[in-house]
Amino acid sequence: MPLDTKSYAVPVARSAAALRDAVAEWRREGRTVALVPTMGALHDGHLSLVDLGREKADRVIVSIFVNPTQFAPHEDFSAYPRTEAADAARLEGKAHLIFAPDAADMYPQGFSTTISLTGVTEPLEGTFRPTHFAGVATVVAKLILRAMPDVAIFGEKDWQQLMVIRRMVADLDIPVEILGGAIMREADGLAMSSRNVYLSPDERKAAGQLNVILRETAAHVAKGARISDATAEGARRVLALGFDKIDYLEIRDSGSLVAYPDDRPTSSARILVAAKIGKTRLIDNMPV
Ligand code: PAJ
Repeated sequence: MPLDTKSYAVPVARSAAALRDAVAEWRREGRTVALVPTMGALHDGHLSLVDLGREKADRVIVSIFVNPTQFAPHEDFSAYPRTEAADAARLEGKAHLIFAPDAADMYPQGFSTTISLTGVTEPLEGTFRPTHFAGVATVVAKLILRAMPDVAIFGEKDWQQLMVIRRMVADLDIPVEILGGAIMREADGLAMSSRNVYLSPDERKAAGQLNVILRETAAHVAKGARISDATAEGARRVLALGFDKIDYLEIRDSGSLVAYPDDRPTSSARILVAAKIGKTRLIDNMPV
């Protein structure tokens, strides 16, 4: 399948072969390449990673693939927003190539390999989405091996995902530099997310409190409060403000995500939260 240069202003590769040909051409010209993996429904958070890509490399590929293997059967795979034409329009003048394979191209008949990590995948998201990071690691490894970029860029919004990918790339000696991009937020502090479109107006209002609680909890701990006291109080308050369930609200070592045994941070720490409003699950994090 050749490159699709007709559908949108930004050319689209829909197969590994088309992607490799485009990258090979750039390599012949001596260009460096950045990859920004996404599941589409692009917002300004994604676009900030694309901007970072243009700072770091001559050519930027944005992949758009709603990866079935990182969703559990009860999760929102079929409802996940798919907005390819709007995404392509947002990437005009920003990305040089869109890589949008279909599921049969990524996972052909007989596909049998999974990359699963121990350690950093296990706490937090791993407790609530036990198969999620194996799906993420496998698809990200495939995307990187297909594009062979100099740098691959991920958002700090999914902090644990970023730590998992750094671990995988180090463990498997994948020759790519992994960069993290800052979290982009709405005016009230809510982290931008493709899932925010699921929120009703009332839920959207309540969602802003997640970030308020993160900031307050981080400030408490920075002032010397015990982690368990600060997080318990914080979680109770988010719940009272319209969240239906807190999956976790934890302060952890920012690299390994392990808990502090003495209830106070002794290294570079991060506060991480996941909570549900109605059916929508939101995650966020912040340095302490
Ligand atoms: P997706 O949720 O589409 O996110 C794509 C990238 O954008 C991720 O690296 C994510 O951390 C980043 N991102 C999302 N919201 C952001 C925000 N508000 N500010 C900054 N960056 C933000 O994460 C995935 O897709 C998938 O798991 C993927 C890595 C593509 C593998 O399928």
